[in-house]
Amino acid sequence: MDYQLPKGTFDILPAFEKEPWQRSAVWQFLEEVLRNTAQDFGFREIRTPIYERSELFQRSVGETSDIVTKEMFTFLDRGGRSLSLRPEGTASVIRAFLEHNLSQKAHVHKFFYCGPMFRYERPQSGRYRQFHQFGVEAIGAKDPAQDAEVIDLLCEIYRRLGLPKIIVQLNSVGDAESRQNFREALQNHLRPHFSVLSPESQLRFEKNPLRILDSKDPKDIELLAHAPSIQNFLSPASREHFDAVCRYLTQNDITYELNDKIVRGLDYYTNTVFEVTSSALGAQNAIGAGGRFDGLISSLGGPNLPAVGFALGMERALQTLLASQAVIPEETGPLLYLLPLGEEARSACFRVATACRRQKISAEVDFYSKKIQTGLQQAIRLKATLCAVVGSEELLKKTAQIKHLENHTQEEVPFEEISTYCKRFLSV
Ligand code: HAM
Repeated sequence: MDYQLPKGTFDILPAFEKEPWQRSAVWQFLEEVLRNTAQDFGFREIRTPIYERSELFQRSVGETSDIVTKEMFTFLDRGGRSLSLRPEGTASVIRAFLEHNLSQKAHVHKFFYCGPMFRYERPQSGRYRQFHQFGVEAIGAKDPAQDAEVIDLLCEIYRRLGLPKIIVQLNSVGDAESRQNFREALQNHLRPHFSVLSPESQLRFEKNPLRILDSKDPKDIELLAHAPSIQNFLSPASREHFDAVCRYLTQNDITYELNDKIVRGLDYYTNTVFEVTSSALGAQNAIGAGGRFDGLISSLGGPNLPAVGFALGMERALQTLLASQAVIPEETGPLLYLLPLGEEARSACFRVATACRRQKISAEVDFYSKKIQTGLQQAIRLKATLCAVVGSEELLKKTAQIKHLENHTQEEVPFEEISTYCKRFLSV
């Protein structure tokens, strides 16, 4: 075959035996749970373009972040403007929020979004170049209860999906003052060992030392074991905020673990940060992550508004779900499969199908099978409930033999009564 999927992408198909998480039915199930849960928490949908001006991501995600330096799909349009496929959703939501002047319309805006994101990463299981995120952003929300609510929403999603073993890891990266103090302490701790740091961490040492805490290099991890903790450098305001978030979580029975190594790979975070992991996934085990970003809106030229949110990786959520043997609904077939034998029967079946569909009964006509056996096999493959066979004899009587594919019984039903007959099975 000349044309194949670009590296790091995948198709979602109606039936995919090898990779069940790539079946469209499981995506539809996931999307429905995500939307319903977010709406139950008062979040409303926002849709933004999949590409934006590159500068938006440079200024929000961060000039020194891996995403901006190595992972963006950036191109010039025919007018010479630099555009990038969105690597994440937060920047676009804030851009839209500012562009439509929404801060004038309410104190707090709670948005959710769902769609493809793009990062030029080394593809591996759980990591793709086009992947899907479901995210929420609560803009204008300063109260620590909002941080806890957003974490609660993420947990509620996993609960409704039936994902048992998830762990919320929580930290605070403090405000600018806390980070400045911690940055110096961390540099002081690592400086004597600079030469043994991984090359990547050496690069980060001056520009973005906090990101060294994220390193997966064994030598770095060893050096970090006795590094100072950001938890001990929080300013009084950040300490108070974080303690309140923890209190709200405890009060609502949301279990979490403190992990002072979580700093996140995007530059816009302030105070609360969190990651949700699952033991069912391998190395790429963050199935959702987020935090507070109180400085982002003003840094993009907007008012000084706080905000907090998260994004969940939809591929990873589905993979975790399937790995933990959760029950996922199977694709449903048509209620009625019409199997005409011959040309005249075909046109009669087509008419019956149209009448059924007008009454919201799912019906499919077999325009192709020449033999009853082939048609029945197809009806079974499609998981139809009923199969209406119309041969020359039935055509004369204007009836169909309706076979119940589950219990193998059969009834003869006149054409004009078929839709009423089918309705009895609608709620089954
Ligand atoms: P993020 O940690 O970069 O945060 O991504 C969130 C989630 O997206 C990850 O936990 C992971 O499940 C999934 N993800 C990221 N990259 C990939 C990939 N290459 N392949 C598959 N899944 C991936 C953000 O994007 C922030 N915008 C989250 C946020 C919203 N913070 C505040 N509001």
